[in-house]
Amino acid sequence: MKSESSLPARHGQFKTRAARSFTPILLVTLLLAIATSPRAEDRLAEGRGERLSHQDKAGMISTFNINGPIDTDNPFFQDLGSNGRSCATCHQPEDAWSITPRHIRARFNAGGARDPLFRPNDGAVCPDADVSSPRAQRSAYALLLAKGLLRVGLPVPDDAEFSVLAIDDPYHCSTPLELSLYRRPLPSANLPFLSAVMWDGRENAPGRSILAALKIQAKNATLGHAQAQSAPTEEQLDQIVAFETRLFTAQSRDRNAGPLRARGGKGGPVALSTQTFFIGINDPLGGNPTGAPFDPRAFTLFARWGNVQGGDRQSRARRAIARGEAIFNTRPIQISGVAGLNDNLGIAVIPGTCTTCHDSPNVGNHSVVAPLNIGVSDASRRTPDLPLFTLRCKTTGAVIETSDPGRAMISGRCADIGKVKGPILRGLAARPPYFHNGSAASLRDVVEFYDERFKLVLSEREKSDLVAFLRAL
Ligand code: HEC
Ligand code: HEC
Repeated sequence: MKSESSLPARHGQFKTRAARSFTPILLVTLLLAIATSPRAEDRLAEGRGERLSHQDKAGMISTFNINGPIDTDNPFFQDLGSNGRSCATCHQPEDAWSITPRHIRARFNAGGARDPLFRPNDGAVCPDADVSSPRAQRSAYALLLAKGLLRVGLPVPDDAEFSVLAIDDPYHCSTPLELSLYRRPLPSANLPFLSAVMWDGRENAPGRSILAALKIQAKNATLGHAQAQSAPTEEQLDQIVAFETRLFTAQSRDRNAGPLRARGGKGGPVALSTQTFFIGINDPLGGNPTGAPFDPRAFTLFARWGNVQGGDRQSRARRAIARGEAIFNTRPIQISGVAGLNDNLGIAVIPGTCTTCHDSPNVGNHSVVAPLNIGVSDASRRTPDLPLFTLRCKTTGAVIETSDPGRAMISGRCADIGKVKGPILRGLAARPPYFHNGSAASLRDVVEFYDERFKLVLSEREKSDLVAFLRAL
């Protein structure tokens, strides 16, 4: 098992932060982790690929690379554009292949805006933001530093069913023709489980495979984020996709419950890499091509831990994770007001569970393309650091306020305003904050959001069990 290694944040520059923060306590924890871990998974890992681990607040996040040692010569790590950035600038293994404010701030404090992450084109709140002094840079990169948000500029589609009536934008960056939206980088790992690429599924198209969508995504990322003058070669794009689709990342160790694959637990990235998936698997709305009925028990990673005996801290932590998994699978939720679900089915209240929307077995995204609006970008939840757009639907006259129109910026449809995909729920603990706009600072905040949004009235213990489960994914 390889531990505490870091990948180049950009071509030619290796990071040593993990090594620097390597205190004796961490070392002892790490040695214990190695000493107590069952060997079977390690043998599997040795035979088939390479593991890479980093400490996170909840324990340890690991990546399993089916291809073997991480090939840092892959174009994923190369500066293919004009601003010094590579894919790894925004997709780092220690952050479950996203980036987190904690590490973003460390990069800013270490190198100032010299780190290529800090580029005005989409790192700043607006491309023309003042970055002429360190003080100006702090406010230009405020959303990146505080919430890990990148600017995504999207044109209002020509044939959109809506027009932009008003813009309340603290950064004066959006216009009625092009909106600036602020979004979290999605992980560039666990990609074989995707049904939609990007929060708004904008790289998907009818008849286009996920692999083809990922290739277009890599091209657009190079032209956009890395400001390349010309697209990468087909060969480079194939190499990037071949690299990123072999990466599996998940929490491998919990600081309270220990190794997540011990005592019949099925956590960690190696088990994840063998998880069955196909488009439509376990779909609750009849989308499963095998015709198999929906099983709300979509997560079965920690079922065996429900029977763990003992009053010690580790056994209690394991039982809490098992209880959290059961809550996720079975706790009734009266789903109402979710565009993409209630309106499509014409049912005001759908009796469901967390797994109605997070249905892919042991992965947790939606197994078919299903943009949904659960209310994260509603005007009522808008914070002053985000823009608020007032949209007017041309035919109905309806006026809708949102901080991110989501899928509607691609489809042009009023019905799609505020819809985004439900992302993969693995490696969560290593990549706060959550939701497309980073509005939930912690997994506890995510649970509080659902408790309030769907009036769950979860008990204190149910909340902490759910958090324990989410943290172990
Ligand atoms: C400047 C930061 C940045 C860089 C550089 C970057 N990305 Fe991303 N990436 C993002 C953001 C932000 C999103 C989500 C945007 C959205 O959905 O609107 C994202 C999304 C993705 C996704 C979608 C995952 C999913 O679940 O749908 C993949 C795959 C990905 N990036 C791969 C890459 C590759 C490959 C490169 C290099 C060619 C790259 N990224 C470069 C910020 C970045
Ligand atoms: C009605 C559908 C639906 C239900 C029910 C639902 N979710 Fe979600 N979930 C989503 C969508 C859609 C998103 C993305 C929302 C966004 O980013 O704006 C999401 C996002 C999340 C995220 C953040 C992931 C990330 O990468 O940022 C977590 C964690 C999560 N859900 C957990 C839960 C839990 C726990 C429950 C049950 C208490 C639950 N969800 C119930 C649809 C749902």
